[in-house]
Amino acid sequence: MDLRLDGKTALVTGGSAGIGKGIAKAFADAGAQVMITSRKAEKCEAALVDIGGDSDYIASHIGQLEEAERVIDGTIERFGAVDILVNNAATNPWAGPMIDCDVPRLDKTYEVNLRAPLQWTQTAWQKWMQENGGSVINISSVGGFTTSEALGVYCMFKDALMHMTRQLAAELGPKVRVNCIAPGLIRTDFAKVLWDGPRGKMISDMLPLRRLGEPEDIGEAALYLSASASWMTGNTLTIDGGELIRIAGELPLEDG
Ligand SMILES: NC(=O)c1ccc[n+]([C@@H]2O[C@H](COP(=O)([O-])OP(=O)(O)OC[C@H]3O[C@@H](n4cnc5c(N)ncnc54)[C@H](OP(=O)(O)O)[C@@H]3O)[C@@H](O)[C@H]2O)c1
Repeated sequence: MDLRLDGKTALVTGGSAGIGKGIAKAFADAGAQVMITSRKAEKCEAALVDIGGDSDYIASHIGQLEEAERVIDGTIERFGAVDILVNNAATNPWAGPMIDCDVPRLDKTYEVNLRAPLQWTQTAWQKWMQENGGSVINISSVGGFTTSEALGVYCMFKDALMHMTRQLAAELGPKVRVNCIAPGLIRTDFAKVLWDGPRGKMISDMLPLRRLGEPEDIGEAALYLSASASWMTGNTLTIDGGELIRIAGELPLEDG
């Protein structure tokens, strides 16, 4: 099926790199007008060359409260709509046990990874989607399904983002669908420490699909959720090469 988004406008947070750029490119290739946002203007400008199509940027820090309104107004001004919102940008300022996380880093993770997706969805709803309909896609993580030695705080908010997806889907239907993607390990700068060098090969060897993810894998899923999936809302698509279902850590059966 050739999925198209002609005539639609998408706003992708964190669209200047990694997964967000992969999603923005998939949308632009499918004919959408695409607005990306991230903190650094020069990074956004460079990304537009790869994204191509009818794309533009407004530099913004999604955790700052006044920014949602400014960027969503700017998108409507530039392209006339916000039909698709992808809450993709996230941060991880703390690596270590949750029990040791200090309040400033806890607050920062909350502000960028959870409060911003809610606030940006509220603003898109108020300014466009309530009247005109639309689709929201939140980018969570397989970490939201599990515990973790070093990423516990990050994973907690990724789990909460999946719940937010269900809650908002229940509230915003039938005009607006809200879905989520939980990626496994994707080869981006954000996750480089997890896949660079021999560790990456060890991980891909453990996966049923024997390779790490690429931003394009998530772009494909986001295109499906926005251009098709018309009877799907409140759901999370796990795109992880089989990480969550791999056979691991099982006690051997007793003989006989
Ligand atoms: N990579 C993985 O393995 C993986 C796995 C599961 C889930 N995820 C999730 O996927 C999403 C994207 O991750 P990624 O790996 O693509 O990261 P990435 O390569 O580091 O890209 C992050 C993007 O977000 C922007 N950004 C960061 N903080 C921002 C802020 N406060 N305001 C606005 N923009 C901001 C960055 O640009 P600027 O520096 O210009 O702001 C960049 O465009 C995140 O939600 C992450 O949790 C990633």
